[in-house]
Amino acid sequence: MEGGVERPGGRERVCVVGASGKLGRHLVRHLLDQGYEVVGVCRERSVHKLADFEGRMTVIGGATNDRAVIERAVRGCDAVLTVLVPWGTDHYASGTAQAVLDHAPPDARLIFSCGWHISRDGKDVYSWRFKLAEAVVGRLAKLARVIDVGDQVEACRRIFASDTRWTVVRGSDLEEGPSQGLPVWSRHVGDPILASNRTRRVDYALFMIEAIEDDALVHEAPAIVGRLTPSALAHASGRA
Ligand SMILES: NC(=O)c1ccc[n+]([C@@H]2O[C@H](COP(=O)([O-])OP(=O)(O)OC[C@H]3O[C@@H](n4cnc5c(N)ncnc54)[C@H](OP(=O)(O)O)[C@@H]3O)[C@@H](O)[C@H]2O)c1
Repeated sequence: MEGGVERPGGRERVCVVGASGKLGRHLVRHLLDQGYEVVGVCRERSVHKLADFEGRMTVIGGATNDRAVIERAVRGCDAVLTVLVPWGTDHYASGTAQAVLDHAPPDARLIFSCGWHISRDGKDVYSWRFKLAEAVVGRLAKLARVIDVGDQVEACRRIFASDTRWTVVRGSDLEEGPSQGLPVWSRHVGDPILASNRTRRVDYALFMIEAIEDDALVHEAPAIVGRLTPSALAHASGRA
């Protein structure tokens, strides 16, 4: 699929790695609405999930940890938005991140998604409930060879160590529903503003796209929460 629309002030080219998932499709839709030229990468078997966008974007089918696929997809891009998922046990997340770090143009904005369980500086404070869920789910999934959270941790370690223009957006628990606007963020899980632990997927995508133009987020790992959640509203009204 080829296409795209003019972006006022000059069209910028953005690659979405993992474009066929729920978050990926929100990213593609927002980007097209905002006039970006979009290149999406997803597994061959999932190309059909992008049929709604046929003619308006370029789709490259292939594994996101395939370095040749990523090299082709990110060529000439101003930004690369990567949905970082811990699927499988063959280092899918770290392979995907490494391919993006190695092949994206040096000055490109690189935005990655992950969950609150990723900690950049070890100063996040997690509830016992969060830690228990992470330990149980992570262990069971690894035993079943379904997901490998440790590999997503390794992917982020490499991103944090990189001198590219990265931002790692750490999502809270996600839900569907209409947009509530741009989520709010904080540097550390455990900060009161984040207590509601809930963000709409559509708004998660919005935050990742806003980060493209927000240089204040370069080399940050914002943890986000919906702007209309009780904890965000309490913070806004000065009660938190
Ligand atoms: N789910 C949550 O509550 C939650 C909470 C916090 C943060 N996050 C973060 O949000 C991001 C998106 O998460 P999501 O849950 O909303 O997922 P999602 O957008 O539905 O995306 C899932 C992605 O994983 C791919 N995938 C699925 N099975 C795979 C496999 N076996 N091998 C390789 N790729 C596979 C999908 O590709 P196909 O289309 O090809 O299947 C798709 O690109 C992630 O970075 C996640 O860490 C999620």
